Amino acid sequence: MGIDSRVARSGYRFRMAIPRSEIDQVREATDLVALVSESVALKRVGVQFRGSCPFHGEKTPSFYVSPQKLIYHCYGCQVTGDAIKWVRETQHLDFMDAIRLLADRAGITLHDDSPAGPGSGDKKLFMDAMARAVDWYHEQLLQNPQARPVRAYLKTRGIDGEIARQFKIGWAPDGWDPLSSALDLSAKQLEGTGLGFVNKAGRKQDFVRDRIIFPISDPTGKPIAIGGRVMPNAPVGPDGTAPAKYKNSPETPIYTKRKTLYGLHLAKQNIVQTGEIIVCEGYTDVIAFFQAGLPRAVATCGTALGEEHFRTMKNFASRIVLAYDGDSAGQKAAASVYQWEKQHEVDVAVAKFPPGVDPAELALQDPEALRQAIAEAVPFLKFRLNRVLEAAKIDTPESRARTAEQALPIIAEHPSNFVRDEYLREVADTLQLDLAMLRSRLDEVLNSPRKSPENEVPQRPIFQSRTRTANLQAMPRPGIEALRTLINQPELIRTRLIGPHFVNEIQREAFEVMSSGVSVVSAMDDLQARDRDEAASLLGQVAIMDSEQLFSPADVSAVISQLIRSAAAEELKAVDRELRDGSIDPTTAMHTIRDVKERLTMLDGPHGALAEQNLSAWLAERNGVSAP
Ligand code: UTP
Ligand code: MN
Repeated sequence: MGIDSRVARSGYRFRMAIPRSEIDQVREATDLVALVSESVALKRVGVQFRGSCPFHGEKTPSFYVSPQKLIYHCYGCQVTGDAIKWVRETQHLDFMDAIRLLADRAGITLHDDSPAGPGSGDKKLFMDAMARAVDWYHEQLLQNPQARPVRAYLKTRGIDGEIARQFKIGWAPDGWDPLSSALDLSAKQLEGTGLGFVNKAGRKQDFVRDRIIFPISDPTGKPIAIGGRVMPNAPVGPDGTAPAKYKNSPETPIYTKRKTLYGLHLAKQNIVQTGEIIVCEGYTDVIAFFQAGLPRAVATCGTALGEEHFRTMKNFASRIVLAYDGDSAGQKAAASVYQWEKQHEVDVAVAKFPPGVDPAELALQDPEALRQAIAEAVPFLKFRLNRVLEAAKIDTPESRARTAEQALPIIAEHPSNFVRDEYLREVADTLQLDLAMLRSRLDEVLNSPRKSPENEVPQRPIFQSRTRTANLQAMPRPGIEALRTLINQPELIRTRLIGPHFVNEIQREAFEVMSSGVSVVSAMDDLQARDRDEAASLLGQVAIMDSEQLFSPADVSAVISQLIRSAAAEELKAVDRELRDGSIDPTTAMHTIRDVKERLTMLDGPHGALAEQNLSAWLAERNGVSAP
């Protein structure tokens, strides 16, 4: 507490380079309900919208969006925020980048009066380094005489000059630092891109050596990372173990694995034309699909296929074909695939390959078979069902019943009862079982607690919130009521409150920003810009509370009295301490204590207003702020 810290804190308010008015404009131009609906199914309830919280797993929806207050809030896990916070948390952007993204969406041109912030300046530095490195690696593959065996090896895999150019495949020469020294990359660039590092001897060192380089690009084609494949004849390491087949870039400010799809920049045109996107396992599979005349394949980069990939893919296609080798396709978490299908309005199909054959091999041996496998891809549920039905022996009533029991839980996982019934008929046909009996058995499976349909299973969180929240239950109630009045009926309370009225530090921080008359969301920005997450969360939570129930002037006075009582009690303790350690004059102290106590008894009486004024002035003076 104290004046100094307050002055220092308020300095941050003007740090942003985009004018406050434009930030507000972006926020107001953003349809928060539409934005959130891109990842969460929302239903209208009264003046708000409700859905399952994407930040924590829950069975009953407790996540609300208020289009009037421009805020979302979850009563289950207390996350709160506005459109900017939403973008920051769900897309892992900083404040400025989140605003830029929303401005783009809303078609607003920003007048950023500073050169891009520190974060984005670094990004540009790293993007430049990555682009130069990828060009250089590519050049090495095409030109360096030492790369002759590499070119020969690639040719055996069907990768000729044309494909190498299309995918900008490269080669990292053998050596400690050929890249770093050829491009004279700084330590910061090496580390910020993952292209190299400074070793124990203080020397720059490249991340990969003697490897084939597969550049990984963003959807616009700018390289953001690399994957380096070992040469087939690579020597074993000093400890006798074989080197890793691939060394992939780490996550960096320019590379987020769970958002990235290898090959998307090259595939997107064909994806849009055909409405179909093929997802396969790795670099060489993607390339193989292109070679086989299916230039619409992408691969995840070291993470499982997830929410963020779906969000990207649905912008390009409505049909997603998983082209993994047999075993891994079935292992995808079924519930989340159905959830993504529904949420993003896409169909997920699975292509079937002969066991142990991956697309890259098939593309070389029998490209027609690869094309056929994709054309014959079946819906995800059917694929899983087929695996059970095809593996089953169905020669006895017992074995047919057993097979049905294996099939039912798979069918039960699908959220649509039309779809479920369709597949149930198929099972009845294949196994020659009575449809009515199967239906009633499916109902039992659906109603058993273990395997219930999707909406009763706690939804898995889609996003991880990175900010701390405030626990309102653990806070003094009068402070909350005061803030609530300040937000909904500022004219009743604003001039009567000062920071020292709040004994709770978080409430006081929230009040201090709000008291300057800014909107709730602006106040939340200010607080977040200073890492005051709890105070921001408190404001959001209070703002989203029921605002129909308004306070009367008498209610407001009662709230203020309660605030003052607690604040004065705290302050009297401080006076008492000062008295005991001899830092104030005992006579003055005794007078003060007596006066304060007397005024406290007057608070609710006919001279309450005067007592409030006196006590507030005293609290203000003791805390070095101006009186209300
Ligand atoms: P594969 O082992 O099938 O590699 O792993 P590949 O790319 O098909 O290589 P070839 O065909 O044997 O030459 C599939 C994908 O898994 C990732 C890569 O993305 C690879 O393309 N992977 C695999 C790694 O990231 N690191 C590894 O060590 C192995
Ligand atoms: Mn492979």
